[in-house]
Amino acid sequence: MQIEVLSSEAAIAVAVVDQIVAIAEKKPNLVLGVATGSSPLAVYQELGRRVEAGTLTLAAASAFALDEYVGLPPDHPESYRQVIEREFVSRVDIDSARVQAPNPHRPELSLEEACADYDRAIAAAGGVDYQILGIGSDGHIAFNEPGGPLDSRTHVGELTLQTRKDNARFFEGELAAVPTRCLTQGLGTIMEARQIGLIALGEGKARAVRNMIHGTVDPSCPASVLQRHPNATVYLDPAAASLLD
Ligand code: F6R
Repeated sequence: MQIEVLSSEAAIAVAVVDQIVAIAEKKPNLVLGVATGSSPLAVYQELGRRVEAGTLTLAAASAFALDEYVGLPPDHPESYRQVIEREFVSRVDIDSARVQAPNPHRPELSLEEACADYDRAIAAAGGVDYQILGIGSDGHIAFNEPGGPLDSRTHVGELTLQTRKDNARFFEGELAAVPTRCLTQGLGTIMEARQIGLIALGEGKARAVRNMIHGTVDPSCPASVLQRHPNATVYLDPAAASLLD
């Protein structure tokens, strides 16, 4: 696991997008893993700038989202499919039809079948070349909450109260509006990405970042599994890095 402490969110976005551009130059049909939440927003803006400047095209790329809430209508603005459309797809030249998220709205499939189908879709695309990740204040990545197995596949998950409180800001501060369940890529699924860039911003992430980097690899901090990944870089602003040795 490599650690890069950079001065600002904008500097982190440039560093992450440089990695994606390097892959895209060799493999125009790259497969990108995209996260929702606040942490990757500057990365999506920077991707948009590069596409507009003509130094990057994602026209042949495809993308897979990490997770999706269960219980929101598909057109809800905070459904992760909608967030990915708004924050990522609309800024770049990727074909929206080649962007997938775990889909709980398939009447012909149970939620568990939809999860298995999602893992098959990622495998059929050849796996993820570059996975963008954030980290929860409780150490989750995607919606793999503390205590779950380190080798899980895409599955139905329960959100912790801490995560629901953290995400209430996307639901006008109303905790009751935040779903309790989700579909999420598993830690085993995420670990198969060939390259990973995790972004953590702000002092609210400092404790989780410390556990991820200095703690033992343990389900109590799901992100700690990234210590075992051969090509993962953690991008931190000074506040997120403030509790590191
Ligand atoms: C989002 C996701 C989550 C977030 C994490 C941090 O798709 O999977 O793991 O990355 O909750 O969220 P932010 O970036 O909003 O602090």
